This record gives sequence, C-alpha cells and structure tokens, in this order.
Amino acid sequence: MSSSLGKMFRVTIFGESHGPCIGVVIDGCPAGLMIDEGGIREELRRRSPREPEISTSRREPDEVKILSGVFRGYTTGAPLCMLVRNEDVRSHNYHEVRYRPRPGHADYTAYVKYGGYNDYRGGGIFSGRITVAMVMAGAIARKILAHFGIKIIAHTIEIGGIKARRPSMELIEELASRSPVGCADLKASAEMVKVIKEARRLGDSVGGVIEVIALNVPPGVGEPVFDTLEGDLAKAFFAIPGVKGVEFGAGFKAASMKGSEYNDQFIIRHGRIATKSNNAGGIQGGISNGMPIICRIAFRPPSSIRRPQRTVDLRTLKETVLRLQGRFDPCIVPRALPIVKAMMAIVLTDHMIQAGMIPRVIKE
Ligand SMILES: Cc1cc2nc3c(=O)[nH]c(=O)nc-3n(C[C@H](O)[C@H](O)[C@H](O)COP(=O)(O)O)c2cc1C
Repeated sequence: MSSSLGKMFRVTIFGESHGPCIGVVIDGCPAGLMIDEGGIREELRRRSPREPEISTSRREPDEVKILSGVFRGYTTGAPLCMLVRNEDVRSHNYHEVRYRPRPGHADYTAYVKYGGYNDYRGGGIFSGRITVAMVMAGAIARKILAHFGIKIIAHTIEIGGIKARRPSMELIEELASRSPVGCADLKASAEMVKVIKEARRLGDSVGGVIEVIALNVPPGVGEPVFDTLEGDLAKAFFAIPGVKGVEFGAGFKAASMKGSEYNDQFIIRHGRIATKSNNAGGIQGGISNGMPIICRIAFRPPSSIRRPQRTVDLRTLKETVLRLQGRFDPCIVPRALPIVKAMMAIVLTDHMIQAGMIPRVIKE
C-alpha cells in the first residue's frame, strides 16, 4: 500500500468514501506561508458535484479543519494536517457490489488484493471522494507556487467525443470559468453538456480529456534519470481515479511527426531563451525548459451506470446481472479540473524544493 507522494513536499492522504473523514498530512511544507482557509474551500467547491443532471447528487459541505502545522495564520514548518468530514453518505446502496463487483471499477481488484476486508462502501479508497485530500494539498502547493509567479490552469478539451477548439492561452481560464464543464470553447461546451445529460438519461456514462498547463515554471526542474518531471507528473495524474492516459506536448502525435516538425527551435523572446513551438510540452530530458508545461489527461467513462451489466458473484462463482441503484457521476471530467491542477502543483512544489528553488521559509 502506498498513500504518500513526493520526497521533500510529501503528501500523505487518508480516509475512505463512507468513513468519518478524508484527510491529508503534508510533511515538508515551507514555514511562513499565510494560510487562507477560504482559498482551500473555494478549490473544494470547484471539485464538488455540479448541477444534478451532469453529476452525482451526493452533496457534501466539505468544511476544512486544519489540525496542525498552522499557528497564527502561518505555516510553522511542522506537518500540516487537514481534513473534511464525510456527511452525505448512503452506504446501503453498496452492499450490492460487495460480492458482485461493478465491471470497470476497482471492486474486484480490491476484493482480491485485500482478501475481502476492503471497505467497499462508496468504493472505499477507490472513490473519487479521496481526491478531496489531493485538492486540499494542491491548494497549499498552488499558494507556494504563486509566490514564485507560477500559475496552473486547466480546461476540458473533449467529452463524449465532442472536441473543443483551443482559444489563445490568455483566454483559456476566463472562458473555461464560464462553462459548466470547464471548456473554453463555449459552443463545444454546450454540446458536451448535452452529451452528458443524454448519457445519464440512457443510464450510461462518458469520458473525456483535460489539458493542464503550468506557466512560468523556471528551467531546471526535474531529477533524471528515474525522478524525471514527466515521470513524477504522470505518476501523480495516474493516482486520480479514472485516469487512463497522460501525454505531454505533442504526445502520441509525436510518433508520426518528422524531426524537422517536432523539434522546438530555440529563440530569444523578451530577452530569454524560449522555443518557437512547444511539442516537448515544456520538458526535455525530464527537466523543465522554461516553456509552459502542457499535459493532457484522459478520463474513462465512470463504471457505475444504471444499465444492466454482467458480473460474477464472488461467493458462488456464478455469472449474474448487476442493476445498480445509487448516486453516480455520468462524467468525471467537469469535477476533475481542480484535481489535475492540484496534482500538477504538488509535484512541481516537491521538485522545486528538491532543486533548491523553494526555501524552507517563505516570507509573505
Ligand atoms: C471526482 C471523481 C468522481 C468519480 N465518480 C465516479 C462515479 O460516480 N462512479 C464511478 O463508477 N466512478 C467514479 N469515479 C472513478 C472511479 O473512482 C474509478 O474509475 C475507480 O476507482 C477505478 O479506477 P480506474 O478507473 O482508474 O481503474 C470518479 C472519479 C473522480 C476523480
């Protein structure tokens, strides 16, 4: 089992979907950072379910409690522990999947791995609910990065096969904030909402793709050979339940490009070394090159759907049919935007501390 991420900014998460709480401990958080609970709450609100027609109807107040590591409003450098309580829990719906695993979910693999002792209620540690801990840690990391001028933005570029057109980098954040699915192409956004509603109506679900971008990351961040920036970011993104693909820059398209098309030629922009294109997605040799770090993350359609599906009863080893009742997301993507931003921030903070770019004390 591994519930910790990072070396110098080490994030450990705990809690289950239907347990008493979800929490996080951050070891290595620099001292002197002013903590604004409102900012953390705002990030959690963005992760919360949206309109009932495009997300689960589970509603949680997600009030953050800071238990340690903050004194008189500033981080002390000691372990920072935060938690939120789980309140809107309806566990009875999940007895059904204890021995009859949902196809596509982690019910079966968790049952095998933990010998049936796993907390299956609400998916236990495999629930999207655990991402509350990621978002809380990410809010702290983003605050640290903001101190160094680094900004992270994310937008939805695909849902249920509807692809968005990308506006210029400067407009992404503002336009995406106007869309219920976080898509900066507002025409595509309306189509995406329709596709999600239709999937829900049919008792089905849809997947999609989020693009996350880190701006103003200095060159030199990343620890080859094994702790490359790409490698650690991919690991963090794959910890988000439902992520099935991660690509940087040109990504898989690079495989069909010529060297003359792919290579990002060096130029001087505003007196600094930059590249003309950004097919590398801001990372070369596992080290940031000063260009925006661009990553696309593919989410599968959620497994919990109302349509009947075949499964096996783990007690009798007989095939059976599962008809799910309960509250589920027909698409993960709209709720995942703050989660991918959080993971990007956590990894960048950890790596910048490793690179000596973030001191132990931040004077605000
Ligand atoms: C915010 C969020 C909400 C999610 N909601 C659901 C859901 O309602 N139903 C579901 O089956 N999966 C949901 N998932 C995805 C499952 O947790 C995930 O598919 C499961 O743990 C299996 O992991 P895998 O898909 O990465 O293999 C959600 C994930 C996130 C990040």
